[in-house]
Amino acid sequence: MAADTLATPATPDPVALLDAALRTAIHRALGDDFADVDPVIRPSQNPEFGDFQANCAMALAKRLGDQPRALAERIIIAADLSAIAEAPEVAGPGFINISLRPEAIDGLLAAMDEPGLGVPPDPDQHPVVIDLCAVNVAKQMHVGHLRSTIIGDALARVMERRGRTVHRENHLGDWGLPIAMVLHELRAAGVDLQALRLEDLDAAYRDAQLSARSDEPGLAAARRLHAGPHRLAELQEQNDGARDAVDAAKATLVKLQQGDPELDRDWHRLIDCTLRSLYEALEILNVKLGPEHNRGESFYRDRLAGVIDAYAERGIAEEDDGALVVRFEDRERPLLIRKSDGGFLYATTDLAAVHFRAAELGADRIIYVVDARQRDHFRDVFDAVRRIGWDATADGATAELIHIPFGAVLGPDRKPLKTRSGENVTLRSLLVEACERGTAEVRRRATDPAAPTHGRSDDELAAIGRAVGIGAIKYADLSTDLVRDYLFDMDRMISFEGNTGPYLQYAHARICSMFSRAELASDDERLRAHSFAVHAPEEKQLALLLLRYGAVVRDVTRTLEPHRLCTYLYELADAFSAFYQKCPVLKAPEEQVRFARLRLADLTRRVIADGLDQLGIEAPPRM
Ligand code: ARG
Repeated sequence: MAADTLATPATPDPVALLDAALRTAIHRALGDDFADVDPVIRPSQNPEFGDFQANCAMALAKRLGDQPRALAERIIIAADLSAIAEAPEVAGPGFINISLRPEAIDGLLAAMDEPGLGVPPDPDQHPVVIDLCAVNVAKQMHVGHLRSTIIGDALARVMERRGRTVHRENHLGDWGLPIAMVLHELRAAGVDLQALRLEDLDAAYRDAQLSARSDEPGLAAARRLHAGPHRLAELQEQNDGARDAVDAAKATLVKLQQGDPELDRDWHRLIDCTLRSLYEALEILNVKLGPEHNRGESFYRDRLAGVIDAYAERGIAEEDDGALVVRFEDRERPLLIRKSDGGFLYATTDLAAVHFRAAELGADRIIYVVDARQRDHFRDVFDAVRRIGWDATADGATAELIHIPFGAVLGPDRKPLKTRSGENVTLRSLLVEACERGTAEVRRRATDPAAPTHGRSDDELAAIGRAVGIGAIKYADLSTDLVRDYLFDMDRMISFEGNTGPYLQYAHARICSMFSRAELASDDERLRAHSFAVHAPEEKQLALLLLRYGAVVRDVTRTLEPHRLCTYLYELADAFSAFYQKCPVLKAPEEQVRFARLRLADLTRRVIADGLDQLGIEAPPRM
């Protein structure tokens, strides 16, 4: 690599550059058998040993029966890192220590200082499907749907940021027996469906479920135990009632399937009512999800018979007591795809949906953001899909099928979150509370005459408060390992200190305030006219973190773990604080130093804002 290529390095990421240069060196030093060996580049734990170390020599020496230190020397001699680093040194048992040249860091920062902030585009240009939200019609949405929406939206944003086309698929539960049961219940009760509220719908759903719940095992046990005639009659009646209710619901479903216009109209009213309250919540939540993303279970209704035929014809599914099942060698539980009464199931719809997503949408990554309790369901569905080859796109790629299982949100008692009166927490109430808490905090801070929000309008404070409250919830959702249950603690989530959304928003706003005090915008010519000039250790620490941004984003799209981005942003905000404490910016004595530091600060605020945006979190310029 010649020094003059530094003006436009392939990537501003020093690790990627060192990785490429050392791979070449290993190949050169050791021959074609070692053409693509990972040099194992890691940040140094101790700045005394440079900025990075390559740890490959020990394992390679073992493979070759060579001395690790001698081998490290051979690699160094073959390596040309001169464009970005000082001459590497061998240390300890065979570590290769590397220090970047300060001018090289300045050059990499300049390369990163473009609108894309060094985020590499994804070479794979197939679309991606993200199955998210997926509320059920006629039921209150709960925190699980909130998590699915928040996580799914964040993953979609990160992938879009890398240039992928993302289909956000809202697989609404809008079809099948449960819906027919509610429809039947409401119509039988003569409810005016046009004036329907979600609460009524929710109640009807529960009633319908109750009246359809039979207790066959209870009846059998009562008979065995010679229960009194009264108890037997009671149970008999419950079971007969349940059968009647289910029969009525089935008849309703058949009529609905046949396109009965009145039923169809009422079914739409039910959906509208559910969606109205969904959109209200989504509006507060600031997610990119709307009617254009709805493709519910009903969309697949005419494809279900075809699914059954395909599985039966190819002998992948077999009859079992009149039902149709797919069996797997490694588990006892089969996947039921048609009931003995001919009805289709949740799984049947999912098989049709995968087929549609791979074959028709062309997606080579199909990601389901659904709570962890459905793990077995997706395992079975995915295996059944692979058996029939429906994970193939039209152009011959094989789609990755991924379930992102997430944990439950727990209340202070470590049980699933409930309201004080013991009900399931509704989505809306939770979001409204978050906005109120955020707004209260922002108003309190604005009373300080030195605060940048002092004297701003009430509307503006409320808008900032909303961003803070929603940011707090989203960050808490995204910053931990997704599969773990987590404790919903609004006090902690909304705090301006610690690893929280508001802390990052505040770090960003503080940098913005600094710029408004200096009366400088990002694109100010005076700023652009000065170069980066990294000297102090705190400047370097901050710079090295900034340069990692693209790699972190790439990592999130690969691992689908948003918490990596959260951790990175948190470390970045910390590194900025350390820099800001040690290195005066606006008070720097020389103009050159002042502007060089301002450029570092500007890049930091843009990375924080961009990173938060990928998490779906707003970054108000003033807090
Ligand atoms: N509606 C379902 C529920 O609330 C979630 C659907 C998830 N997506 C899917 N393709 N199965 O449990």
